[in-house]
Amino acid sequence: MAESIVFDNVSHVYNQGTPFAFHALKDVTVSIPERQITAIVGHTGSGKSTFIQHLNALMRPTHGKIHLFGETITADSKHDSLKWLRKKVGMVFQFPESQLFEETVLKDVMFGPLNFGMNEEQAEQIAREKLRLVGLAPEFYERSPFELSGGQMRRVAIAGVLAQEPEVLVLDEPTAGLDPYGHDQMMRMFVDLQKQQQLTVIMVSHQMDDVAAYADHVMVFERGEKVKMGTTRDIFNHSQWLKDKQLELPHAATFIQKLETALGRSISNAEAIPLTVEEVGQLLIREKQRIEDWNEGEGNV
Ligand SMILES: Nc1ncnc2c1ncn2[C@@H]1O[C@H](COP(=O)(O)OP(=O)(O)O)[C@@H](O)[C@H]1O
Ligand SMILES: [Mg+2]
Repeated sequence: MAESIVFDNVSHVYNQGTPFAFHALKDVTVSIPERQITAIVGHTGSGKSTFIQHLNALMRPTHGKIHLFGETITADSKHDSLKWLRKKVGMVFQFPESQLFEETVLKDVMFGPLNFGMNEEQAEQIAREKLRLVGLAPEFYERSPFELSGGQMRRVAIAGVLAQEPEVLVLDEPTAGLDPYGHDQMMRMFVDLQKQQQLTVIMVSHQMDDVAAYADHVMVFERGEKVKMGTTRDIFNHSQWLKDKQLELPHAATFIQKLETALGRSISNAEAIPLTVEEVGQLLIREKQRIEDWNEGEGNV
């Protein structure tokens, strides 16, 4: 069986012991499969960012335990004893390009590896490798990161995270603010990286089309609680439940539901509502075939 990252009754209280105490995570118990893509969805303020910051011990639980890489993290874990986690878990925050700071693209990506104790030569080699991986051409490496386009800057920032060679990659709305083309390119880049390097990817997303197309599992947060976790298909099959939570369905599913309402009959199987444009295509071809078969049958009578 695949290993997992396990949260065992994890709570996080901000400003504990003050009048401003705020319970941002409440008794979260969940198991995240390794080497797969898990999406985290939920409204603003539901605790998604708080949750992911526990994955590299930027935050520690106020109560409960986290098990990962054979270790256990609790409120008592010492800050210094968790440094290794920063390397194993790469964190791409929202708008990561805002954290670029070096004179050149290459130096920016080398910063992490140098910080983790590599020599200049090794750091440069790995920086070049990761820049190539995120699709940035060598002509940019000696330029200032601030001369690049928004999408290119973000690639540099992501190369910087990859340069620490993490096993887990955490993405907090990684495509926010990109144009549709840049968005698709970047999502495909993450999926390719995940496959090539067998990474565990945990991705916060508001875009249900991405969740449907790329995630293996989905975790739903509401007011600090994990209210559902399942395979992507599983979660979207609960379409009424999602609507009740005011969460969207992928456009493919909405399209078919509207079509079914207009036709006054169902053409999809309730257990397999289409999640992607490709699945809508398959469904419509099947439906066309069914109608043709039926018409032929009528003609024979
Ligand atoms: N540093 C903080 N101090 C106090 N409250 C915070 C802090 N960070 C987040 N919160 C609160 O915790 C809740 C969850 O926030 P967050 O994890 O950022 O949610 P999400 O990422 O789902 O939007 C929100 O109500 C937010 O206001
Ligand atoms: Mg957030």
